[in-house]
Amino acid sequence: MLKEIFEGPEVVEAAMRGRLNPANGTVKLGGLEEEVEELRKKSALEIIACGTSYNAGMVGELLFEEFFGVPTETALASEYRYKHDAPMKNAAYLFISQSGETADTLAALRKANARKCLTLGLVNVVGSSIARETTAGVYNHAGPEIGVASTKAFLSQLTVLTLMALMLGRKTAAAKMIAAELAKIPKKIGNVLRSADSIMNLARKYAGYHDFFYLGRGYNYSVALEGALKLKEISYVHAEGYAGGEMKHGPIALIDERFPTVAVVTKNALYEKMISNIEEIKARRGKVIAVATIGDTMIKKLADDVIYVPPTVPQLEPMVNVVPMQLFAYAVGVGKGYNVDTPR
Ligand code: F6R
Repeated sequence: MLKEIFEGPEVVEAAMRGRLNPANGTVKLGGLEEEVEELRKKSALEIIACGTSYNAGMVGELLFEEFFGVPTETALASEYRYKHDAPMKNAAYLFISQSGETADTLAALRKANARKCLTLGLVNVVGSSIARETTAGVYNHAGPEIGVASTKAFLSQLTVLTLMALMLGRKTAAAKMIAAELAKIPKKIGNVLRSADSIMNLARKYAGYHDFFYLGRGYNYSVALEGALKLKEISYVHAEGYAGGEMKHGPIALIDERFPTVAVVTKNALYEKMISNIEEIKARRGKVIAVATIGDTMIKKLADDVIYVPPTVPQLEPMVNVVPMQLFAYAVGVGKGYNVDTPR
């Protein structure tokens, strides 16, 4: 698992290679080229996946809405496949799966195919069922993921989702800026990995707690879900991923000094909102581990511990901010003596 976490910069590079021209913001995704015209006529997009791939899809939803300008929803494959839904008119369906074999995702794909929908795949394993049965698609090129917990695949999924949104959307100044910034992400992930030892030491300090909240907003809501999922899966510790704004609608009642929160509070438009959430937690004597932007000295006064990450644009923050989450879960799991590569 640690090896695969450290492959983060490499897999982001691999997913961009030959596809992105950061100088002018152009993106070329061979597997989608024939469908681009058709996709641009669509009035809705549904992203369908499970687990970590679903969490990546949630970032995709925000990216597609922002850059492609098409209403997008993310659905759990295990729900979508059984629901008696009213099929969306003129929609395209994107299925995300590392393995390309997840039973629920495959069943959801077959449901969409039976309705003659345009189906796309974002898959890592070449020639897998989902890759074969979708109309068109893009591979992540993350290499085989041996550890059961998805880490590097998540980063490569986010890379490809960004490329897809940029390719389909208009070449605005904002889109060009994202393209230029995407090329810098491997270096920024490398920067986080250089502080892996201190992140893992911090995780060991918290390894005795039985419950954790993970909070994020906007693009970082998905990071909160993913952080909590990794901790549950690898270290068998109860963790809840929540959108910051939902805390006051019930979950905050659980907070006390025995229930720490990992809060993603990087500098973006929702920073002040996250600060209010942290203040509410502190008022209930909850401990806070903040994932914050390098240079944010104010957060030190509020949080019990801070993990610093390099700044980037909000749309790409999940790619940087998820890395401490992966390291944290890894260190807690190993600290408890578990085999994190093949969790139960
Ligand atoms: C979590 C994890 C799972 C998978 C999920 C979907 O670490 O690995 O949640 O993400 O089972 O798998 P794929 O992407 O292969 O469809």
